[in-house]
This record gives sequence, structure tokens and C-alpha cells, in this order.
Amino acid sequence: MTLEVVILAAGQGSRMRSKRPKVLHEVAGKSMLRHVIDVAEKMGADKTHIVIGHGASVVKDSVKQIDVLWALQAEQKGTGHAVAQALPAISDKAQVLILYGDVPLISPETIRKLHSDKADDALTLLTVNLDDPTGYGRIIRDDGKKVVAIVEQKDATPEQLIVKEVNTGIMSASAKNLKRWLPQLQANNAQGEYYLTDIVAMAVAENMNINVCHASHPMEVQGANTRQQLQLLERYYQQQAADMLMTNGATLADAGRIDIRGTLQTGEDVFIDINCVFEGDVVLGDGVSIGPNCHIINATIAANCEVKSNSVIEGTVVAEGCSIGPFARLRPGTVLANGVKIGNFVETKKANIGEDSKVSHLSYIGDAEIGRDVNVGAGTITCNYDGVNKFKTEIADNAFVGSNTALVAPVSVGKNATIGAGSTITGNIAEGELAIARAKQRNISTWKRPVKIPRD
Ligand code: UD1
Ligand code: CA
Repeated sequence: MTLEVVILAAGQGSRMRSKRPKVLHEVAGKSMLRHVIDVAEKMGADKTHIVIGHGASVVKDSVKQIDVLWALQAEQKGTGHAVAQALPAISDKAQVLILYGDVPLISPETIRKLHSDKADDALTLLTVNLDDPTGYGRIIRDDGKKVVAIVEQKDATPEQLIVKEVNTGIMSASAKNLKRWLPQLQANNAQGEYYLTDIVAMAVAENMNINVCHASHPMEVQGANTRQQLQLLERYYQQQAADMLMTNGATLADAGRIDIRGTLQTGEDVFIDINCVFEGDVVLGDGVSIGPNCHIINATIAANCEVKSNSVIEGTVVAEGCSIGPFARLRPGTVLANGVKIGNFVETKKANIGEDSKVSHLSYIGDAEIGRDVNVGAGTITCNYDGVNKFKTEIADNAFVGSNTALVAPVSVGKNATIGAGSTITGNIAEGELAIARAKQRNISTWKRPVKIPRD
């Protein structure tokens, strides 16, 4: 049997008070809709259908790289009506899983429970028990505890309102049954909507057994209708992610002060201090230590590196045993070999820096190829840009660049060469040479400093 997923994403989400469609609001740096699409993919869905309405074109544009099918629900007439829009494109042989574009943290494990051991055309509901079930559809069971219906809050009797078991909205049904049931839905209820949930009573009328699975945690099936709820989802997600890191052998100074917006892979004995943000794909090798307030984006940092406080590292590959920061900024295209030291207020971009070389203070190294054991003095600037073109600076092994040097690219500095402090280097320097390019010092012995005349 094939699996087709329908993601409901047509609602407006007016309580977000946003120009952005609700499902495009982000949790952990990724739109809620994208989270749900990723789950469908992990489930091995043969097809994913997304029902769109409000902000349809913006929603569509946000996921255009993915192979999904779109169903337009021009008017939002209820969840049953929404699923019906996707139905014509669904194969009669499919089992259909219904997910919500604004319920981003549903786990593949829970959905697998929804499908395991169930008959091919089973109707299975995902429910959860809530202390406060207000607003949700209640799961109504008969004396034998069999599910007989779902009743919406606005249609429920006082006795039904007491029920704490609620419909998460997520369910699984065969396409065959949906194609039979959905055309029969009536909008004769308090909201005048075509309720998907009414298929439960239809199935019961046909003597079908309704299966029920429980969500492992209420947050897994929590939707985001408001920015407050969005923030709660974010915190829950981050807490889970932090917990996973610790399970994998990382020490966190405070599990409540780390944010992971992407994937963070850590080796053993990694230490992460407070207020660090990781984005995209980040890998930290064994024994890496990250100081407070670091922002690390799409980077690989090998074993035993130390990143000191307030450093920003993006698109960078760092080999073992490097020391970075505090206040370093490594920009895309930076590659550091083993044992490199990048000190405070150093910016690098498209820079290859060889083993054990040091750029310790206040420098800009861009479009540069630096060998091993090079010492780049404080305040060194690679002048790589003439306003139109970028040029390369090459510094060979064991060169010594004096402080406050400007290297006007294209330029190359030979092996073992030395540059005197304060030089503006515009021409190549051969192996072992000393280059000094600065005005000669003059001392004026007859100089008299102006004297202040006291006023009486
Ligand atoms: C629905 C369920 C309710 C359940 C609750 C869980 C029905 C009738 N009720 O409630 O039992 O407890 O979800 O959150 O199904 N949507 C569309 N098109 C529409 C209507 C809704 O795409 O015409 C989408 C919304 O964007 C949203 C989802 O479906 O993602 C649920 O809609 P919402 O109005 O939030 O749910 P309720 O009807 O309140
Ligand atoms: Ca509604």
C-alpha cells in the first residue's frame, strides 16, 4: 500500500498579526510547513499534497524546490473540505496521512505508531489528553470505551466538554474510504463548516473499528496560532535538542541558553558555554570548547579546538587544535590548518591559513593563501579590493609580517621573508628578504613645543 500525505495549510492565522502566512513562521530557523514536509519525507511518503489558500503563492514559493503537489482551497470551508481538495490527485490504493502545516513538531516515531499493525483501510486517530481541552474536538467513547465520534468544542454538550481526550487533527485513513465519506459531509454544525472529524461517526455507522494512538507529548501535536504558542514550540524544540546533545556527550553550561537552528553534531567531551547559536550544519569534534556568545553557521571545527567568547564563524573549516577569538569573525571560505591561532578582532574571508600560523590581533585577512608557521602582526590588512576586482595575497611558510602592514594585492611574500612594521607592501618579496616600505624617521633637535601663556 502506498502512503500519501496531505498537509493542511490553507488557514489564515490572523492571530499571528503577520503579513506572512502562518505556516511560514519559523521554529528553529525553519518554517513550520517545512518541518512537516520533512516529516512526510522521513515517513517515506510516496506523494505529499499541500492544501493552500491564504497566501497561496507565497507559501508555494517558499517550497518550490521540493517535489510536492499543490491543492488550492480558495475558500476555507473546513478541514473536511480542505482534504477534499487534495483527494482527486490521490491514488485510490493509498493510505492517506493527514498532517497540519501549523503543527511542526510531530515526530516520525509517533506517526509510525499510527500505521503499525493496522489494517490497510483502517481509520486511526492521534489523540492526546489535555488538562485544559478548551477549543479542541473531544473524543467521544461509548460505555465499552469504543470511539464513536469527535465533537467540536462549539457543538459539544456540557458532558462532552468535560472530556479531556482530544483530537489532534492528525489521522490516517484509506483513500478509498475518504473518497466515499468526504462527499457526504454536511456543514450543519455551529461553525457551518465541513468537518473532517465527522468521518469518525460515518465509520462507526459502518461498524468500522476506530483505532487510536496517543501522542508521546502534548507539544508534539501543539499547533501555533499565536506568537506565544510559536515561542513555546521553539523553546520545547530547543530543550529537546539540548537534551540530545548532552545524551551524545556534550556538556552545556546551561541547556536553556543554547539555540540550534539546523543540525549540530558533537563529538565526545564538547563543552558549550552560554548563549551560543548554531545555524545550518555544524560539526564539532571531540574536546572542542565553545565560549559564551558565539554564533556558528555551517562550519566544521575539528577536535580540541577552542573558540573563545563572542566569535562569529561562518562557512569555515577548522582543523585540530586551533584557537579562535575572543571576538574573531571567520567568514565563508576560511580554512584553518592544525594549530592555527586567530586572535581578537581578526576578520578572515576566503583565507587558507597553514599549520601553526598566527594572526593574533586586529587584522583583516581576505583572499589570502598563508603558509605554515607564519606570524601575521597586529593590524595587518590585506588590501584585496580596488573597488571593482578582488586580488590575492600569498604569504609563504615562516614569513614574518610586522605590525600595521598593508599588503596591497596582488602581492606575494616569499618563504622566511620579513616585513618591517608599518609597511605598505605593493611589490613581491623574495625568499628570505626584508622589506620595509615606510617613510624614514626624522628627528628634529631644534624643535620647541608651543607653550601656553597663562591668562591673569
Ligand atoms: C481541528 C479539528 C479539531 C481538533 C483541532 C486540533 C476539525 C473539524 N476540527 O479544529 O477536532 O481538535 O483541529 O487543532 O477538523 N484548514 C484548512 N482549511 C480549512 C480549515 C482549516 O486548510 O478550511 C487548516 C488550518 O490551516 C489548520 C488546520 O486545518 O492548519 C486546522 O484548522 P483549525 O481551524 O486550526 O482547526 P479547528 O477547526 O479549530
Ligand atoms: Ca476552525
